[in-house]
Amino acid sequence: MPRPRAYITRRIPHAALEIVAAACDYTLWDSDDQPVPRAVLLREAAQADGVLTMLSDKLDGEFAAAAPRCQVVANMAVGYDNADVPALTAHGVLLTNTPGVLTDTTADLAWALLMAAARRIVEGHKLIEAGGWKSWSPLFMVGQEISGATLGIVGAGRIGSAVARRARGFDMRVLYHNRHRAPALEAEIGAEYHSFDDLLRAADFVVVLVPLTAETRGMVGAREFALMKPTAVFVNAARGPIVQEQALVAALKHGQIAAAGLDVFEHEPIGADHPLLGLPNVVAVPHIGSATLATRTRMATAAAHNLVAALTGQPVPNPVNPEVLGHGD
Ligand code: DGY
Repeated sequence: MPRPRAYITRRIPHAALEIVAAACDYTLWDSDDQPVPRAVLLREAAQADGVLTMLSDKLDGEFAAAAPRCQVVANMAVGYDNADVPALTAHGVLLTNTPGVLTDTTADLAWALLMAAARRIVEGHKLIEAGGWKSWSPLFMVGQEISGATLGIVGAGRIGSAVARRARGFDMRVLYHNRHRAPALEAEIGAEYHSFDDLLRAADFVVVLVPLTAETRGMVGAREFALMKPTAVFVNAARGPIVQEQALVAALKHGQIAAAGLDVFEHEPIGADHPLLGLPNVVAVPHIGSATLATRTRMATAAAHNLVAALTGQPVPNPVNPEVLGHGD
């Protein structure tokens, strides 16, 4: 039996390459900072039995049609909004993701954004750099109180629940909104289920952690910002298109909310001239929610295991469209 051929769309940690190399012949797009060009992806996928992909790779019908041999796409992310799942399924391509291994790391980053935006950390750093620190003063650089405040989690899945758990250390009241009630989270930390609008009205901190789907695209816009407190801090550590960015810019400019901490943007990467970046009450980072070496290694090895399992007929740990496997598990 010839060894399966795999294509990997970015440089990934060595531990993951070893997993792939043990079972497959592979080539990769050997870059840290540039995504694989579309034409190269389609050309390489045409020769591959499986592809290990990044969230920046568009996995649509054109991709599936260009890859007739491809049995599996192992996406190195928990989110898979870069994939057209019905199109992959229609072509018999299994999609896998990497749930679980990045939960705490991403929750940590959401908290880092929350605290930095609330306490004006980046603004203060820039002010010192610009020579603007003149004296200590009672009302100088005052921010939002975190301890004892009310945290509103929109999307209480794995990462949302991990963000909620961290609030215990700050004696916070925790509200959540989710498609389904989360009784375990309610029992564990006393989180209170609220309607979306009630949560927006009551929360001092609104943290969005829903996946990007047709239902969640644009779910936070002008109407939602108008419901929030003028002192509210808004955090998005999920996906940019969940938020209507122009409405966010307007809400931050006009004091409808106090500040925002953002890991994700509508069109990534954003340039230095993006309207959100000129605002003093924005803390922005470049989609680094899962960016620690330990977590990126876990994500890459999880993707590698999914890829190899699918190509060698082993049980696949994280199938997104298991119906492709024919046994619906
Ligand atoms: C994911 O896995 O979906 C994250 O956005 C990557 O950090």
